[in-house]
Amino acid sequence: MDFILRKAEPRDVSDILRLVKDLAKYEDMEKQVMLTEKELLEDGFGDTPFYHCIIAEIQGERRTDGQPVVGFAMYYFTYDPWVGKQLYLEEFYVMEQYRGLGLGSRLLRHLSDLAITMRCSGMMFVVAENNEPSIQFYKRRGAEDLSQEEGWRLFRFDKDSLVKMAAPAEE
Ligand code: ACO
Repeated sequence: MDFILRKAEPRDVSDILRLVKDLAKYEDMEKQVMLTEKELLEDGFGDTPFYHCIIAEIQGERRTDGQPVVGFAMYYFTYDPWVGKQLYLEEFYVMEQYRGLGLGSRLLRHLSDLAITMRCSGMMFVVAENNEPSIQFYKRRGAEDLSQEEGWRLFRFDKDSLVKMAAPAEE
């Protein structure tokens, strides 16, 4: 399979949003995708990028459906005061017809190289409990299930909660 991995550029935001929606659909959560291309552009390619993406792009003959961008990994860096820098894998997706060809493994290898270069102590990610194929995919590569092994639970304050907690606007 002739494909390249490359850093995302501003021109990729429509493909990134397409793949974000595909992954959300795969997870039965498509309706929760609120973001637009404009926000992805501002947030990923402004002065302070809030995310980075590696794009998997098919080259040449195998590009049958006119869709060169067939997979991606979205990531950013976080900090754990116990162990330092971490690469956080936010989204990881390969279109169904291109799965099982090694693209996902290549993307993970690329991110691992990057994490090591950046002196990260690990790569964190969240997987939906019912996404058993992916859980097994990660476990086969050595990932630990921290919810099971250490009992962590994932929390969020939504926007309403934030507004309630935030300081009231000055009169
Ligand atoms: N589909 C999926 N896996 C297959 C298929 C197939 N048709 N055929 C074989 N496999 C096996 C491979 O043999 C390989 O096994 P291995 O783990 O023993 O090596 C593995 O499944 C797939 O390996 P790759 O080809 O390297 O990876 P792929 O290109 O299929 O990408 C990925 C992996 C991204 C998980 C992909 O399957 C996918 O997009 N799945 C649906 C979306 C998803 O669950 N994403 C992860 C969500 S979690 C998060 O984003 C942090």
